[in-house]
Amino acid sequence: MAAVCRMLRLAAARYPCRPGVFRQFSAGPSFQYILVERKGQSQNVGFIQLNRPKALNALCDGLMTEINRALDSFEADPQIGAIVITGSEKAFAAGADIKEMQNRTFQECYGGSFLAHWNRVSTVRKPVIAAVNGYALGGGCELAMMCDIIYAGEKAQFGQPEILLGTIPGAGGTQRLTRAVGKSLAMEMVLTGDRINAQEAKEAGLVSRVYPVDKVVDEAITCGEKIAQNSKLIVSMAKEAVNGAFELSLSEGNRLEKRLFHSTFATDDRKEGMTAFVEKRKTNFNDH
Ligand code: HXC
Repeated sequence: MAAVCRMLRLAAARYPCRPGVFRQFSAGPSFQYILVERKGQSQNVGFIQLNRPKALNALCDGLMTEINRALDSFEADPQIGAIVITGSEKAFAAGADIKEMQNRTFQECYGGSFLAHWNRVSTVRKPVIAAVNGYALGGGCELAMMCDIIYAGEKAQFGQPEILLGTIPGAGGTQRLTRAVGKSLAMEMVLTGDRINAQEAKEAGLVSRVYPVDKVVDEAITCGEKIAQNSKLIVSMAKEAVNGAFELSLSEGNRLEKRLFHSTFATDDRKEGMTAFVEKRKTNFNDH
């Protein structure tokens, strides 16, 4: 499998426009495992769709590398105000690619820093929304949890079944799941491999909203558009402040929030937002 992935990557580099196999993202890079577009009326929402249907979007190395490249493009694009990541109706992603991992040794994993490049989603400064239908298992659940907001379709299933394969989550599952749903449910999921459905995930606080299967992607894009209407600069500051809650003590987090709040007063957009309110008109943010 790894050899096939390598071969296809080479082919992708050599034949970037081969129709039906590699999709173009504007004039930028081509992709084999994902579809990349702009969405929303103002084309200001970056859209990444995992597209490895025969393997239920199993996250092979090439797919993760492509997600990182797409995220880099969107991060650098001043038009883009939010990013949506989704899969298919059957699977958001059924986990890391087991066939690719099957014969790896400890020495390869440790020496090669296996999965070191998997956390790009969690370092993007623009908001990322996961629209999850179907299976979000193992690395798939971890990928969703690296996003800032998770919307689920009614038939979504979340799980960390690594224990059934004789391993444990390796891309933040034990940490982010526990912070999201609490110790008891996280332990149950990680130790038994049992899945939870969309409604259970909502009740536990893992996802913020549940929609019909055919609506969840559109709703995620609408949420992205709403975010993208705000100042991109201030949105990044707000995201940084909320993320502080996962890393810092309450007093340190409150201090970070206060500093960022004060910093908004150095921006054009804070002035514009408050002036527009007072003048009873719409805001016209310029992201400065
Ligand atoms: C590689 C996978 C895969 C995976 C599915 N496939 N999941 N290939 N890695 N994680 C492939 C199958 O081999 C099969 O291809 C095809 O997708 C369809 O899968 P089926 O099993 O036939 O489908 P179904 O019967 O509908 O069952 C769906 C499923 C099951 C319940 C999701 O596929 C499943 O249990 N998958 C593994 C889930 C899992 O354990 N995930 C955690 C992975 S470990 P072929 O060609 O064989 O027919 C992990 C570690 C994370 O994520 C560590 C850090 C990232």
